[in-house]
Amino acid sequence: MNNQENTIILAIESSCDDTAASIIVNGNILANVVVSQEIHKDYGGVVPELASRSHQENIVPVVAAALKKAGIKREELSAIAVTQGPGLLGSLLVGVSFAKAMAFSLDIPLVGVNHLNAHIAAHYIEEPIPVFPYLCLLVSGGHTRIIKVDSTIELNVIGETLDDAAGEAFDKTAKMLGLEYPGGPLIQKFAEGGDPCRFKFSTGKVDGLNYSFSGMKTGVLNFLKKEVQKKPDFIKDNMADICASVQYTIVEYLLEKYILAAKKHDLTQLSVAGGVSANTYLRKRLMEECEKRGWSVFIPKFEYCTDNAGMIAMEAYNHFKAGMFSSLEMKPYAREGSK
Ligand code: KG4
Ligand code: ZN
Repeated sequence: MNNQENTIILAIESSCDDTAASIIVNGNILANVVVSQEIHKDYGGVVPELASRSHQENIVPVVAAALKKAGIKREELSAIAVTQGPGLLGSLLVGVSFAKAMAFSLDIPLVGVNHLNAHIAAHYIEEPIPVFPYLCLLVSGGHTRIIKVDSTIELNVIGETLDDAAGEAFDKTAKMLGLEYPGGPLIQKFAEGGDPCRFKFSTGKVDGLNYSFSGMKTGVLNFLKKEVQKKPDFIKDNMADICASVQYTIVEYLLEKYILAAKKHDLTQLSVAGGVSANTYLRKRLMEECEKRGWSVFIPKFEYCTDNAGMIAMEAYNHFKAGMFSSLEMKPYAREGSK
């Protein structure tokens, strides 16, 4: 392939516990390789030190696999893209250092990408693509935001969680139930066939378009403690109903505010992104709510919902076209605003 005519970008994602690499050619994803770290399962959450070490082990084979899958040689690359933040600093450092070394040795530009904006860019990978302006509900393990997307680079946060993220609410509740990390997919699995209205959990009373999940988490914890005291096998015997009720509570709360945001901002294209958007109940309920109002729904393919480098590649491609590059001195950041 001739890199004079084609824009060929290698993108790297290492912000949390997935080591990922992708190749994008003129806006088309040719490879999307993800290696998820199994090591955190037994700890009930990501252990930062172990995550950094695993990225260090995985990054070379993951990048090599992406290049091979796309049939691209290193010398053909136009730029190297990488997640700059937010995320775990030790994890980000592995990806950023690797990306800098590649950009330096190949003498090509470096593109640092914001992980959250990249989750939204997942909507531009495949048709149907929303038309600006539209709304995005970004729900991941670290963030929960309602964003008004005016263009690929104009993103306005109109609501967000004041404490835990929706993914965290899934993961922390799962931990209380003795389930492995990440808990979201397991809660979804155990919820199948359960009664979503059997147990009632209250959600945070926060004004406007913001969310709060910490009260619900404490509510579930207190409820479980009380029931287990009465019947030690309570969790085991009621797993499906507990999971269905937790999933129902989180999803309905997310949708209640999201629909309110759409009405308030008079927008009828609603999208969802981030790891929690892989949740089938959320996808189904969002589609139902939009269908009855004649609104449109946009949800990325499963592989582009949870952490992946395809979304980093798409975001980087837009930066590349706009001439937005990073210097080799750029630093990763754990939180937004801490650059
Ligand atoms: O976007 P992501 O892969 O990583 C972050 O940027 O945080 O999101 C991970 C989160 C975890 O909290 C995980 O439990 C949740 O997404 N998740 C789900 C599902 N799949 C992943 N939550 C509910 N249902 C799912 N099917
Ligand atoms: Zn993410």
